[in-house]
Amino acid sequence: MSDFQQRLSNLDIGLFDKIPSQSTDHDRASLLACELAVGELVPGFNYLEIGSYLGGSIQPYLMDDRCERVVSIDKRPESQPDARGYDWVYQNNSTARMLELLREAAGSVDKITTIDGDTASIDPASVGGRMHLCFIDGEHTDEAVFRDFRFCLDVLAENGAIMFHDSQITYNGIAAAIKYLEDKGTKFHGYILPNLVFVIEIGDFPIHRHPRVMERLVDNHNAYLYSLQDVDKYRRFATRFPFGFLRRALIKVRGTNVSQ
Ligand SMILES: C[S@@+](CC[C@H](N)C(=O)[O-])C[C@H]1O[C@@H](n2cnc3c(N)ncnc32)[C@H](O)[C@@H]1O
Repeated sequence: MSDFQQRLSNLDIGLFDKIPSQSTDHDRASLLACELAVGELVPGFNYLEIGSYLGGSIQPYLMDDRCERVVSIDKRPESQPDARGYDWVYQNNSTARMLELLREAAGSVDKITTIDGDTASIDPASVGGRMHLCFIDGEHTDEAVFRDFRFCLDVLAENGAIMFHDSQITYNGIAAAIKYLEDKGTKFHGYILPNLVFVIEIGDFPIHRHPRVMERLVDNHNAYLYSLQDVDKYRRFATRFPFGFLRRALIKVRGTNVSQ
């Protein structure tokens, strides 16, 4: 087994060390667990990512011999809308900078295809092949996440998986994706991995059976509690003066706090 595969099997989050990534340690371990499981199911798999910034989440795929192709889609806007209600700014955000960092981290960037743009304007055919694992980490709005999901479905192999980052922010988009699959009668499984990685397996793609994924799935208190505590600020906001006072007054008038 190569040194890389050994480190991947151990979910060594040091594999993310060379380029900063917008993810927690638990997220990194979950992403590695999925990469490991997909590589064992489909040696020679293809990975597509929407939202790459500096390439932090791409780096372990570049070093992975079981990953044949990496496709990175990034619109690289000056600022991006966000479901939390304020725009996010990623400075010095360019494909050239990402490729430079990835070249330094992994030696070669030959297997990457980069596409500048968003999934509203990109033809799925331009991806040029079927993907087995997708990661959605672009614009963090419900609409964009659902649109990115539809795009991933269009380019996914018959059996594959789609991962969503920051699911505590984009949960409505993820819920729309789940409803879409239910309405279509598509076979799928959906679950959360710590802290914030939501996974949808499409068709027959049981990466959850891999022991490294399963152990994280079983301990998904690290996802549930982390997510709720992250959004707890909104509850604190809604209960503090004057909003809390007004809500309590309305509830009292309507009697909606009374069980009979
Ligand atoms: C959270 S960062 C990605 C972080 C990266 N995945 C990592 O873990 O290191 C979000 C990225 O999404 C890109 N982005 C913003 N809006 C987008 C859109 N509509 N479509 C595609 N990418 C977008 C931004 O340019 C930015 O690079």
